Amino acid sequence: MASKLAVHGGDPVVASGQIKPWPWITDDDRAAVASVLDGERIAGSRESESTGLAAEFAEYVGTKHCVPCNSGTAALHMCVAGLEIGPGDEVITTAHTYWATAAAVLHHQAIPVFVDVDPATYCIDPGLIEERITAHTRAIIPVHIHGMPCDMDAILDIAERHGLQVIEDVAQAHGSRHRDRMCGTMGACSGFSTQMSKNLTTGSEGGLFVTDDDVILKRAETLQYLGEIVVPGRERAEQEYNARGMGWMYRGDVFGQAFARSQLRRLEDMNDARIANCHRLTRGLKGVSGIAAPFEPDNVRHTYYNYVVTVRPDELGLDIAPVAMRAKLDTALRAEGVDVGLWQRMPVPSQTVFQSRVGFGKGYPWAIPEARDVVYHPEDYPRAAEFIDAALYVFGIGPPNDTDLMDQYVDAIAKVLGDVDGLMAVE
Ligand SMILES: Cc1ncc(COP(=O)(O)O)c(C=O)c1O
Repeated sequence: MASKLAVHGGDPVVASGQIKPWPWITDDDRAAVASVLDGERIAGSRESESTGLAAEFAEYVGTKHCVPCNSGTAALHMCVAGLEIGPGDEVITTAHTYWATAAAVLHHQAIPVFVDVDPATYCIDPGLIEERITAHTRAIIPVHIHGMPCDMDAILDIAERHGLQVIEDVAQAHGSRHRDRMCGTMGACSGFSTQMSKNLTTGSEGGLFVTDDDVILKRAETLQYLGEIVVPGRERAEQEYNARGMGWMYRGDVFGQAFARSQLRRLEDMNDARIANCHRLTRGLKGVSGIAAPFEPDNVRHTYYNYVVTVRPDELGLDIAPVAMRAKLDTALRAEGVDVGLWQRMPVPSQTVFQSRVGFGKGYPWAIPEARDVVYHPEDYPRAAEFIDAALYVFGIGPPNDTDLMDQYVDAIAKVLGDVDGLMAVE
């Protein structure tokens, strides 16, 4: 007889304490941060850690320049400013992302325009981009969501035909590749996040701006240091205290940079382990009804920042909305000891900021006289909404967690979905 679900008093499949937290911190990481504290002067370390991380990350991704900053949102804002996108300009992006992608556009008084997702990859659907291009459109921001590379061939082709720039949001895709090209190297410039959950992290907050272009670099550098160009750590010797233009304070943090440099040395190996874990899950879930594992195209390296399954009530003969089944499954799997949860609750254009167009107040940036009247209809993004309602995020997939843990996850999922009555009885 099948064992009772843990949510109803049975034994959990995954014993407590088995799931190791992310980021995976080693003695090398500890030594890297301690060396900043033990150095002669923190100001000296500020220069060497910032320039060191910039050089090492640029080499890793294969771009000419990198500027470490204090968040992925800042890095994306630097991209928008670096391309001189400004008030009233339109920028096309995906309806399914963390809203920081769109916030970076709004931060420079430009107007986000959203496109629904591809139902297989959950990245922006290139087939729906051209109908959103207007005379005001300046750029496209594809987001390599969950670590899945976007269809960059199609996106770059559209951009070229319409004279648009491409900014890559690589917040979730350090080391992902589209065919043999590294994500973050295909657009004019790109923004990575190194916030603590990311595959490459500062352990706290942080971001990385990258570009090959010297002019875009200068504009982005100016934006991130309050309108001046200053090398971190050399302020006293060199700062002019003369703002050359509008700027924000987006300087990066020295301790986080030391941590990220240490983690970067292991990034490819850690990504390999994460990918192996996720492939194990996908193989294990193949025969399990009621749930779909994520799709992975042949021509990509998907680094699985997130592993997302979608519920399929119809496969179990259930007449229940996916969102309701997902809630029961979420509760039941947590009780089994599996680290699962939710991420986005609605497509970005459905969020209040776009529904009420509050922005900077007084209707800006939408009220800018030269701007087109861009409105956001929630019903225009049905695939993003459908995905969000059915999606369950499986955490604990990064190393040092290994395939043994993934096998336990599969056992737990199979146990819960194999007991439909028990699942339906979950409150
Ligand atoms: C897709 C995406 N873009 C941008 C960001 C913003 O990065 P940060 O939180 O470092 O500002 C995130 C952060 O989670 C993200 O997931």
